[in-house]
Amino acid sequence: MSIRDEIKNIESQFNSDYNLLTQDKLDFNDIKVKYLSRKGLLSGLYSSLSTVDNSEKPIIGQQINNLKVTINNKLNSFESSSSNINVGQFNEIDLTLPGTKYLEGSIHPLTLIIQQIKEIFNKIGFSSIYGTEVDTDYFNFESLNIPKHHPARDMQDTFYIDKEILLRTHTSSSQVHYMKDNNPPIRILSPGRVYRNEDISVRSYCLFHQIEGLYVDKNVTFSDLKGTLEYFAKQFFGEKTKIRFRPSYFPFTEPSAEMDVYWGLNSDSDYRITKGTGWLEILGCGMVNPAVFKSVDYDTEKWNGYAFGLGIERIAMLKYGIDDIRLLYEGDINFLRQFK
Ligand code: PHE
Repeated sequence: MSIRDEIKNIESQFNSDYNLLTQDKLDFNDIKVKYLSRKGLLSGLYSSLSTVDNSEKPIIGQQINNLKVTINNKLNSFESSSSNINVGQFNEIDLTLPGTKYLEGSIHPLTLIIQQIKEIFNKIGFSSIYGTEVDTDYFNFESLNIPKHHPARDMQDTFYIDKEILLRTHTSSSQVHYMKDNNPPIRILSPGRVYRNEDISVRSYCLFHQIEGLYVDKNVTFSDLKGTLEYFAKQFFGEKTKIRFRPSYFPFTEPSAEMDVYWGLNSDSDYRITKGTGWLEILGCGMVNPAVFKSVDYDTEKWNGYAFGLGIERIAMLKYGIDDIRLLYEGDINFLRQFK
């Protein structure tokens, strides 16, 4: 056999051996010995080189070298990709190096507050539903007894998408959606984002979160409303919490009130957020106005109920001592990772 044929022969032998190696049918070390050891096939080729005509030596020598490089490369890359760690590789791992750290997420403070409030109301039979953030003028205003040009619209600067479509300004819109699709009795919470076109500052942002509550049944009274909210305040802020109700006005409830919780004045942010009074206004509420029941075709002789809308941001800011509302929306990881 000529040396050229020998080279080709060894090359194709190696290729088929290498195939078997990748299928785990041959042992890595056996192959290494067979081709690369001192008595292996490649050194055999180098010995045969001496018998070759001088004029051909450079070309043939180059061919053998090429084959050696190919075989070396293939075996090296197989060795480093294979999961079989041999002793040689193991020595190269520095066990004193610090390990890889996996980043762990944390729950957003607003989500934490919403979860806690949902749990408290779940215990007394309220379940959660979700409304839509993009809604129509009808669901956000009209059906809630706020006709066009009603002065109450001024209380909620609205982002309009077009004349009839808007970003909801409160979660009260989900009351109407829910009542349209369901019959009383009703006990629901509806948490979510709301949007108002307000100047952005330490205290206000163009979006914030509310939780709407709606209770509809027979013979519901204002004391039921007060009792429920008092239960909530004590569960959430502690047994000794003081609350107060102040008369207020909302077109969709009658009578209406606002509820304050006494937080105290223990820190700078307490001063700022409670405007120096120690009292924090956390919700608006009232008995559902029969005009709202009419827009969902409920029999106003038979059913009545109460509703409330809780503001989440201020509760979160006081609870966690956050003194700039914008921190809640910036997604700054150093801020967020404090809420493990
Ligand atoms: N939707 C009112 C607001 O955003 C709050 C509210 C809800 C008041 C339900 C009464 C009843 O200010």
